[in-house]
Amino acid sequence: MQPIGIFDSGIGGLTVARAIADRLPHVPMVYFGDTAHLPYGDKSPALIRQYAQRISVHLKEKGCQAIVVACNSASSNALEAIQEAVGPEIPVIDVLQPVVAVVSKRFSGASVGVIGTRATIESGGYQRLLTKEGCEVIAIATPLLASAIEEGFHNGLVSEALLDAYLGQGTFNDVDALILGCTHYPLIADQIAAFLPSSVEIINSAEIVADAVAMVVAGDGVRMEGLDASIAPVLREFLVSDLTVSFARSAQRFFGEEVQLAESSLWSHGIK
Ligand code: DGL
Repeated sequence: MQPIGIFDSGIGGLTVARAIADRLPHVPMVYFGDTAHLPYGDKSPALIRQYAQRISVHLKEKGCQAIVVACNSASSNALEAIQEAVGPEIPVIDVLQPVVAVVSKRFSGASVGVIGTRATIESGGYQRLLTKEGCEVIAIATPLLASAIEEGFHNGLVSEALLDAYLGQGTFNDVDALILGCTHYPLIADQIAAFLPSSVEIINSAEIVADAVAMVVAGDGVRMEGLDASIAPVLREFLVSDLTVSFARSAQRFFGEEVQLAESSLWSHGIK
């Protein structure tokens, strides 16, 4: 079976990859973490597009049947460019559209908060999609969070101080739901929740995106959950553009013994 290609700037997309592996345990995957270029959130849209296109074409060349853009910064700035680069025969699944579809159905006409990287928030992607569905939107950029999480600062004093700076003023006290608009943020979801009233529902994209992937990959929408992958272990390959300790640790944490981690040569031929 052809693998699913998944990519992010680093460890954040592993939250999505884990949910996809649980949902489709029989489907092989190739994960690409562009650790040499993270954070994406501070890059220009043009540079994010360039990185995302190159990785997506690489995943296609590795035989992937579909590409999952497990990164909000790339989803909101590079989706069309990625589809153009891989061609119409490869489905590209982003993180924004499935999340907005679920949120706007559950919270129709409600007030919805979004936090994400500067690239995601400044693209206006969530704001456009949610407003179109009749939601009221409050969106703020929380630029230092992804880098701190990538560095291993989850659920400690550093992330606490950053969250206090970003959320401490009560910006989201009156929203009905808060979208974690960066795939790194589920790693500190409990800490984020502690800054919000209990009435605010936190929306983690991982499972929502896994459902969207299952619809595309399974084709007929058959739920594959619970299939015993141990009968025939599936190939899960993890590639990074720079082999970092934090990526190795997180990949191990999310996927345990099955991790096959390798440095990709994608950017080793003089291309920055
Ligand atoms: N996890 C990514 C996102 O969802 C990227 C974070 C970053 O590299 O800035 O936006």
